Amino acid sequence: MTGRSFTHQGFTLWFTGLSGAGKSTISRIIEKRLREAGARVEVLDGDVVRENLSKGLGFSKEDRDINIRRIGFVCELLSRNGVIAIVAAISPYRAIREEIRERILNFVEIYVECPIDVVSERDVKGLYKKAMAGHLPQFTGVSDPYEPPLHPEVIVHSASETTEESTNKVWAKLEELGLISF
Ligand code: ADX
Repeated sequence: MTGRSFTHQGFTLWFTGLSGAGKSTISRIIEKRLREAGARVEVLDGDVVRENLSKGLGFSKEDRDINIRRIGFVCELLSRNGVIAIVAAISPYRAIREEIRERILNFVEIYVECPIDVVSERDVKGLYKKAMAGHLPQFTGVSDPYEPPLHPEVIVHSASETTEESTNKVWAKLEELGLISF
C-alpha cells in the first residue's frame, strides 16, 4: 500500500492573546488534527499549567514571567526531542515571549487577536464582568497590560473568522515552514 506518509519536526506552536480570545479552542483543534495525522503532540494550556506546574502563582508581572518561563522550558525539552509542543497562554509580555523564541529552534507564534469588547461580551468565565466592576486587579486587557506580538508568524482574528478558517491558516503556515509535511 502506498498511502500518504506524514512527517513532522519538533517545534513549539505558541498561542498568545487575551483571555477568551480562543487560544484553547484553536489549539485543541490543531492538536486533534496533528494527532490524527500521527504526530507526537502535547498541549500546555495556561489554565491546566496553573493547576499543576505553576500551582500557587498569581498574576503579577513576576509570577506571569515565572509561569511563562516554566512553560517555555518544557517546550524546549519537548521540541528538541521531536515532539510538537502547543501552548495556549495569555503570555502578555512581549519580552518574555521573545526570550523563549531565542531559546527554541522552531518557535511559531500565533497571535489570537480579538477586540476587548468582543471578549468581554463573550465573558465565558465571568471574569471580565468582575474586572470591569473593579473587583479583579491585574486582569489582562482591563486592569493589566497585553502587549501584542509585533512579528507573529500568524495572526488569527477570532471575532471575524470561523475556527476552521483560523486553524487552516495555522496549518498552512506549518506546511510552509516545512515543520509538517505529507
Ligand atoms: S499568563 O498571563 O500567565 O500567561 P495564563 O494563560 O497562565 O496567564 O492564565 C490565564 C487564565 O487565568 C485566564 O484564562 C483566566 O481564566 C485566569 N485568570 C485569573 N485571574 C487572571 C488575571 N488577573 N489576568 C488574566 N487571567 C486571569
